This record gives sequence, C-alpha cells and structure tokens, in this order.
Amino acid sequence: MNSKYIDAMEKTTLIGPFKQIIPMTEVPLRGAINDSQLSIITNGGIVLKDEHIIAIGPFEALKETHTTAKIHQLKGNHVCVPGFVDAHTHICFGGSRANDYAMRNAGKSYLEIAKAGGGIWDTVTQTRKATQEQLTKSTIKLANRHLKNGTTTLEVKSGYGLTVNEELKMLRAIKEANKEAIADLIPTCLAAHMLPKDFKGSEEAYLNEMSTQLFPILKKEQLTNRVDAFIEQSAFSAKQIHPYFEKAKEMGFDITVHADQFTAGGSKVAVAFKAISADHLEASTEKEVQLLANSTTIATALPGATIGLGCAFTPARSLLDAGGALAIASDHNPGSAPMGDLLTQACILGTFQKLSNAEVLAGITYRAAAALNLKDRGILKEGYLADLAVFHSDNYQDILYNQGNLKPCMMWKKGILAYDKHK
Ligand code: NIG
Ligand code: FE
Repeated sequence: MNSKYIDAMEKTTLIGPFKQIIPMTEVPLRGAINDSQLSIITNGGIVLKDEHIIAIGPFEALKETHTTAKIHQLKGNHVCVPGFVDAHTHICFGGSRANDYAMRNAGKSYLEIAKAGGGIWDTVTQTRKATQEQLTKSTIKLANRHLKNGTTTLEVKSGYGLTVNEELKMLRAIKEANKEAIADLIPTCLAAHMLPKDFKGSEEAYLNEMSTQLFPILKKEQLTNRVDAFIEQSAFSAKQIHPYFEKAKEMGFDITVHADQFTAGGSKVAVAFKAISADHLEASTEKEVQLLANSTTIATALPGATIGLGCAFTPARSLLDAGGALAIASDHNPGSAPMGDLLTQACILGTFQKLSNAEVLAGITYRAAAALNLKDRGILKEGYLADLAVFHSDNYQDILYNQGNLKPCMMWKKGILAYDKHK
C-alpha cells in the first residue's frame, strides 16, 4: 500500500518545519555524553498518526512522501525535543508547608522540624482531611501545570496516607486524576514513607501490615505496580525494609528507593533488590557512586530537594563518569521540594555539577523514561509516542541556556496538540 493511500485513510498529521529536532535517539542509557553525540535534524518534520510518531526526518522530504497528511505548518523558529518525563513526584497531597519552609530558612533543619511534628507528618494530617475527589482535582491541576512546562509523563507517589485505607484513597485519587490529566500519571506506593505517629506498634509491624493488607488490593484494583520506601534514620532502616521489599518483589512489584538523602545506606538496598531507580543520593559517597554505577539501577537526582532544603546536590558528575545512568526529576512535594519546575532544576543541577546539555536533556527524557521502565517514550522515533515539547528558538541550546525561563510554546501529548501558546 503506498503512503498516500495510508495517509488518506488514517488521517496523519505532518508538523513542521522545525529549525531543529533533537530526537535523543543516539544517546546511551549509561555514562557521560558529549553534546557532539546528539543528532540534530535541521528543517525537520514529524508525522503523527493517532498516539504515535510514524515518520521523522527532513520536512520537505516528508511532505513529498506523505502528500495527503494534514499539515500543521510552523512559522518562525521552533525546536522540538521529547516531552519531559518527571520520574519522581509527590504531587498528590493536601495542605501547604509554607511554615516549614520559613522555619528552615530561619535555621531549623528538615529533621528537627519533622521531630517536632511538622514535616511529612504534617502533610499526612492534611492529606487525610482531604476527600479522594479533592485530591484528584488538585493532582490534575498540578499535572496540567507541569505539562505547560514541558512534562508529558509524571510519576506520582502516595505516602501521605499511611494507613491501608488512606493509602488506597491516595492511589485511587491518582488513578482517577490520570483519566483527566493531559500527562500520563505513573502511580507508586510509598506507604513506607515514615512510621505514622498514630500507629500502635513497631516499624516492622507497620510494614508487615502494609505488605500483607495493602499490596494485594493494589494488585486487585491495579492501582500501581511500583513500590517505594524511604530508607533513612527518620524513616525506615535497611534491615526493616528487607522483608517489605522481599514481599513486594515476590508479588511482582517494581522497586524504587528514596536513598542516601541525609545518610548513605539506601542505595545498597536498592542495588541488592535490583531496584529500577535509587532517588535522592545527596549523601552518596564514592562508595555508593561505584555501587550504583556498576548496577542496573538508575540514579535519579532530585535538585528540587537540594534547592528546597539548601543542601548538597547529588554527585551527578561522578555518577556519570563512573558509568552510571542518571535521571533528573523534580521531587515536587509540599515539604522539601515545593517549586516543582523540572526544567529549571535540571538546568541548575547542570551548572553546579558540570553536566553537558546532552546529559541534562537525557536525564529528563530518555533516561527518565527508563527510570520508570517505560519503553515507548523519551525519544522521538517512528513507533514511539508522539509526546513533543516545542520551544520558540532556532538553537536547542537555548532551552538550557535560559535556565527554565524559556517555556514551551507548544506541547503535543499522544498526538494531540494539548497546549499552544500561539493561540
Ligand atoms: O522525596 N524524603 C522523603 N520524602 C520526600 C519529602 C516529602 C515531604 O517532605 O513531604 C522527598 O524529599
Ligand atoms: Fe521524594
């Protein structure tokens, strides 16, 4: 069948011409990347059909081969990159922690505030007061805000419920939000965020209750296939998490870990359990860097938490130089990372850790998709999702050069023009 007939039947759209398309196709999953390794399609076009890209290449050539495709003609300078994947967020929550932020800047530490009853527990209290519908609504609102800043896929964690029913409320709210939000929401169970202050029993008893009572319902209602735990002195120890992760693995959940945020230790558990990702890593030393770099676990830096808490950045440069895979996520949450602007944060991490443009872009596209085990996005290629972030520029370097201040002018999600600043 010739392509003219296919286009007429299947209602394809050709978008372009773009001054530059950066498809991220030549990028390896692991290790350092030079900008010279990025392929650039100049005066390019992308042909979409339904949710997917069916062709990508020089615009004029695509016009000749897809003669009946509807043309979405671009005027002026445009650069296209894959829609961003934010692989770690907590955007489902109730209330605000503006007072925590003020107290931290007045000299109290995150852990001191937590010990005094603020911190995560404060958000748990406020999230429990919210209805499922309220949480659905606020999650959609934040997800749609992220979309306008370039993000077409967002991971969203529970972890502010901390009882079987309250965790279910959060994960059901995220599932409902996913039906309406433009971006795809990838849910994760973070029931192991901290021992709730009102639980009558030990850490071990709490984790056992969650794994025996909550996990089966997560499977039954298909609420998530990902389980996360916060391994930290203020949360759960490696030893306490072992049986919890064993149970999760046995049941087929993918594992991810809040690791090495204030003290090193979590990354060792992540590697032992072949976790898909170990996130935070601000306190990782050379030992943890080597461990992660020689594993299959993706290291996810969360510069939003560094900026929110005023602490060290994840040793991203060392992780890449050691051969690790580095994703970059916003950690958007009401406590440690209230800003929620992935592009700005990734740019700042780049300046402090000396990351190439290619490494930063890979960290929020292709490598971030891998951190969520998603194989259908993060690069622009035939057969992949038509998730596109488009910027007004003739040079892709401008995206990072503007440090987050250059916003997308157009966002396409699964082949649909979801946001258009021109209109
Ligand atoms: O990723 N580190 C633990 N959890 C979150 C913070 C959650 C909160 O402070 O509400 C994080 O930074
Ligand atoms: Fe987090």
